Amino acid sequence: MTRRDGSRGRASVARLLVVVGAVVGCGGGPGVEAPASATVAPGSVEFIPAFYTAEQAERGRRVFGSVCSVCHGRNEFTGPIFEFTWVAEPVGHLFQHVSASMPQDAPGSLSLAEYAAVVAYMLELNGREPGARELPADVEALNTMRW
Ligand code: HEC
Repeated sequence: MTRRDGSRGRASVARLLVVVGAVVGCGGGPGVEAPASATVAPGSVEFIPAFYTAEQAERGRRVFGSVCSVCHGRNEFTGPIFEFTWVAEPVGHLFQHVSASMPQDAPGSLSLAEYAAVVAYMLELNGREPGARELPADVEALNTMRW
């Protein structure tokens, strides 16, 4: 994973700025508004736990198997690095990244429902329990959800 990558870089910078802002503790921070906190202003959003159905995760598993696994192993989407990068963020951030940038050779080529199914599969891979409601394919709704 060493390719030039705008969105990954931006996400990392955003996180760094959030950390810097928190450490420095000044309201305006360094004068740069991190995109992550711009979309989800702390305090303005009540986070709810993400939900998905087992059937949706199964669809996501099939999409992953036919599309994503050409380049990715399943184990890239669990474990400490994945948790630090994505699980610490609202679920919508992963959805946004994946739906805008993946598959890398054809970004945006899947339906939003397919991207949501893949994210549901990742919730399952990370031990979240399925339920009765599908994960919505809607970034605003997903940005109110935590892992
Ligand atoms: C043609 C190869 C290719 C395919 C197919 C592909 N990816 Fe990727 N993906 C990459 C590369 C290369 C990177 C690292 C650079 C980047 O982030 O753009 C990446 C990065 C990612 C990341 C960020 C990883 C991180 O380090 O946090 C996620 C999440 C991701 N891909 C998910 C997916 C999903 C889900 C699919 C299937 C819908 C998919 N990718 C399909 C090549 C691919």
